[in-house]
Amino acid sequence: MGNSKTSVVDIKNRKNSGKAITMLTAYDYPWALLADRAGVDILLVGDSLGMVVLGYPDTVSVTMEEMLHHIKAVSRTVKNALVIGDMPFGSYNTSIEKAVENANRMMKEGRADCIKLEGGKTMAKTVEAIVKSGTPVQGHIGLTPQTASALGGFKVQGKSARAAKALLKDAKALEDAGCFSIVLEAIPAPIAEKITQSLSIPTIGIGAGIHCDGQVLVTHDMVGLFDRFVPKFVKQYANISETVSAAIAEYIEDVQKGNFPEEKHSFIMDSEEMEKIQQLY
Ligand code: KIV
Repeated sequence: MGNSKTSVVDIKNRKNSGKAITMLTAYDYPWALLADRAGVDILLVGDSLGMVVLGYPDTVSVTMEEMLHHIKAVSRTVKNALVIGDMPFGSYNTSIEKAVENANRMMKEGRADCIKLEGGKTMAKTVEAIVKSGTPVQGHIGLTPQTASALGGFKVQGKSARAAKALLKDAKALEDAGCFSIVLEAIPAPIAEKITQSLSIPTIGIGAGIHCDGQVLVTHDMVGLFDRFVPKFVKQYANISETVSAAIAEYIEDVQKGNFPEEKHSFIMDSEEMEKIQQLY
C-alpha cells in the first residue's frame, strides 16, 4: 500500500468509480493505526466516542474538548485515511458563528482533514458558512443520534413517502450547500438508492443498504467491543470482548496460582553485583 493521504477530492471522485468507499470510526492511537494500515479510506472520530469509549448513555453529553482530545490522537497516527472530526451536539446548532469557530478548531487544534455534522436543510446555511471558511463538511441525515429523542428514538427514518421525500430534499440541500459527501443512517435501502442516484456527491450508508457509494460502521460494534446493544445493521467481524475477557481471566488465574511471572519475564543480575547486594543486608 502506498503512503498518500486521502483527500476530500479523492472521496468525491470515487462517486461512480465502481469502488465502494470504506469508512470506520477510530478514537485513539491503536485503533487508528490498525484501520489505517488495513487501508480504510476514511476514519471518523465520531461522537459515538461518548457511548463506546466514554460510557455516556448517548452522544448528547460529548463536549468539544473531549472530541478534540481524541481527534488529536487519531490525526497524529493516521498516514493514509481521510480523518473526519465529528461536531458534537451544542457545537454547531446554536449559531452559525459558533459552528464556524468550532469547525476551525477541529482543523487547527485537532488537525482533522474535515468535519461532519448532523442535520438536513435546516443546517444548509451553517454548512455553507463552514465550507466558505475553508473546512470541508460531510453531512449526516436519516437517523441522527444527537436528535434521536426528537425523532422518537433510534428508529429507521424515511419509511413513508412523505418522509422519504423530505430526506431527498435534505440531501439535495446539503449537496447545494457544499458538502463533499453525506452519511445516510437507518434509511430503507430503496430510499438510500434513490438519494444516491440523485446526488453528484458520494453517499456513505450505515443501515442504508447496498446501493450507497460507501459504507460506515462504528468499529467497536463491528469487532464486538461494545456490549450494550448491537444494531440490526451491524455485521460483527470479530468478538474482541470475548478474547480480552478470556485473556484477563487467564492472567488473574496465573498470578493467583504463581504461574506468572515466569523466569523468562524476570530480570537477572550479574553474580558479582548480587553478592555485593547480599552484603548490604
Ligand atoms: O458518531 C458516529 O460514529 C457516527 C457514525 C455512526 C456515522 O456518526
